[in-house]
Amino acid sequence: MATKVIVQLPGEQDYAVRIGSGVIAKLGQNLREIDRFSASRDVLVITDSNVGPLYLAHVKASLANAGFKSADITVPAGEDTKAVEVAAEIWSAMAQLSFGRDCLVVALGGGVVGDLAGFVASTYMRGVPVVQVPTTLLAMVDSSVGGKTAVNLPEGKNLVGTFYQPSFVCADTDTLATLPEREWRCGCAEVAKSAVIDSDDFFFWLLDNAEAMAARDATVAMEAIQRCVVFKAGVVAQDKTESAGVRECLNYGHTLGHAIEACAGYGTFSHGAAVAEGMRFAVRLAADMLGGADAIGEFADAQGDLLDMLGLPPLAFEAAPEDLLAAMKRDKKARGGEVRFVLARDIATWEIVPVADEVIVKALSR
Ligand code: NAD
Ligand code: GLY
Repeated sequence: MATKVIVQLPGEQDYAVRIGSGVIAKLGQNLREIDRFSASRDVLVITDSNVGPLYLAHVKASLANAGFKSADITVPAGEDTKAVEVAAEIWSAMAQLSFGRDCLVVALGGGVVGDLAGFVASTYMRGVPVVQVPTTLLAMVDSSVGGKTAVNLPEGKNLVGTFYQPSFVCADTDTLATLPEREWRCGCAEVAKSAVIDSDDFFFWLLDNAEAMAARDATVAMEAIQRCVVFKAGVVAQDKTESAGVRECLNYGHTLGHAIEACAGYGTFSHGAAVAEGMRFAVRLAADMLGGADAIGEFADAQGDLLDMLGLPPLAFEAAPEDLLAAMKRDKKARGGEVRFVLARDIATWEIVPVADEVIVKALSR
């Protein structure tokens, strides 16, 4: 069972996102079918220390069956790996392997490997193609599509990066079988985010299927991934470089979510749990800021039910509102010290709203 979504972005070559059970087996063949990828290309597979032992051999075999010779690098699993020092080690390794501009980078792993490998590929010799092979739900539904690449600085997450689209995305849903439960829920939060921002159709489909999604039903998961990719491709097509006020909608729930992660200490709560809490907060703030509390209340209840069913209950976390506000102001999405929220008053009805400090503090205090 497999499906394909074509991502069409202005000024970019179209690329396919192949989603389904066992699609890694055809990765090499699919790459050969892309005109410019002859088998003479040098291929570097970048993976992490959790994913490599599980899926690297399978990926390399698929490449070899299609005639590609591949080298590989395994980086330590975890967010700390998204660092310019690690990128520099990979650039050097590629140079020592005499990789030229006609090489190809394959990112095998979650969003950490995807962002790092995308960054390396976008900068090595001013840009060599990258193929994403996402292995987390989050990476399949969000980070592998749309071309954001990044490394972190000690001063903050994702502060250095590029917009650089992949040439192909291969989302093999079989790899999700080994994904820890916490990571599954993380991905579910991004699915919920996409559904709220996208449409009634997606939202109510997900609400109907939320328990199956939480239980990792394969058919439901595949449809959720496909819907998210179609949604994200549509958003990115309107605003590839997040400069037209559209792509920011993907930040729904993330303004408070990032602040919770920072204040609690990274890793205390999963990114998804923090984003889910941020989505709950954004609806309360929408009622304060936009009015129409009754109508918003109905939507808030539906969104709350959805998050509960996906295994993302309200977070038991307390912090001083001023500390959370300070963390929000450090977020790179703040503008001139002003915190901007994606607020939704209903499904598919969102806007970006600058919110005054005192309003944020008051809402957080509640
Ligand atoms: P991750 O890459 O750290 O993966 C989570 C954990 O799961 C890691 O320990 C990893 O080794 C392990 N893992 C991955 N696949 C596995 C599998 N199939 N089986 C067993 N273990 C597996 O985290 P993530 O949640 O995938 O991605 C988070 C990163 O993505 C962050 O750095 C974030 O900034 C970035 N991100 C980027 C975008 C974008 O548009 N580029 C969007 C959202 C998030
Ligand atoms: N995940 C946010 C974006 O791609 O813009």
